[in-house]
Amino acid sequence: MNRGKIVMPISKLREHPYADVLCYPKFTLEELERRIFELKNLGITAIEFAGEKSISTVRVLGKGYVGVVVIAHAKRGKVALKIRRTDAGRKGMQHEAEMLKKANTLGIGPPLLGVTRNFLLMKFIEGKLLPEWLNSLKGDKKIVKTRISFVLRTLLIQCWQMDKAGLDHGELSHAPKHIIVDIEDIPYIVDFETASVNRRPSNLTSLCQYLFISSSVTEKIFKNLGKVDRGVVIKALRDYKKCFSKENFEKVLWACRLGDKKGLDKVT
Ligand SMILES: Nc1ncnc2c1ncn2[C@@H]1O[C@H](COP(=O)(O)OP(=O)(O)O)[C@@H](O)[C@H]1O
Ligand SMILES: [Mg+2]
Repeated sequence: MNRGKIVMPISKLREHPYADVLCYPKFTLEELERRIFELKNLGITAIEFAGEKSISTVRVLGKGYVGVVVIAHAKRGKVALKIRRTDAGRKGMQHEAEMLKKANTLGIGPPLLGVTRNFLLMKFIEGKLLPEWLNSLKGDKKIVKTRISFVLRTLLIQCWQMDKAGLDHGELSHAPKHIIVDIEDIPYIVDFETASVNRRPSNLTSLCQYLFISSSVTEKIFKNLGKVDRGVVIKALRDYKKCFSKENFEKVLWACRLGDKKGLDKVT
């Protein structure tokens, strides 16, 4: 296994195992040629194989049910490229691009940079997934607490904004792979594949469930921020679900120990 990064220009992507990443999990020559053509149209000059996950013997940023995410080189620099899996349930990346674009209008998610049938191009978020980020925090307890509070409060505000805008992410109740915290402690919600504007949003409820009710990160959060009263959080969310008002949202924030005396003036 090569743990370093490998940069492959487009012209070399016909070689294995790189070609297998472009056409994962089922490789065919026709599909590879179609995809290389699309990459050229997107202005991609090379693909960088690096990251925590792997396919065959090469490293990638991430791997899910719909896509494989790698770093790509474009004129503007390094970008993130989501490659549609050959066995993905979706016919193309258009739906995800539309949902991400809608999130972007709210200042949420990695900015969308381009889309074709098999690829989605977006800003590369250099950072760690939320559980890893939480585990990486060391040093002064007060600083750690402030950093966690800032990131979680920002995330809850993002969920409220999406709820109000009618955009449901759809996968925030098991969020471990869908929140990246960048090197400046800015959290990004990723993967709008299952997002929809046609159902009642439950972003905040889902995320609070994940963060404060029951998951592998709950204990870690309680250890740093103090334990929340689950009953109070559930009650606040129940009221919030009826109306996504600022007052109801602030009650959720306070229940999660993320309230702020200054309130939400800058947000609304
Ligand atoms: N813009 C990005 N920058 C950096 N890493 C990303 C980016 N988007 C996704 N990833 C990584 O790739 C993984 C898979 O992406 P995701 O969109 O969830 O694919 P899938 O739809 O297949 O689940 C994520 O969990 C994350 O680790
Ligand atoms: Mg995913």
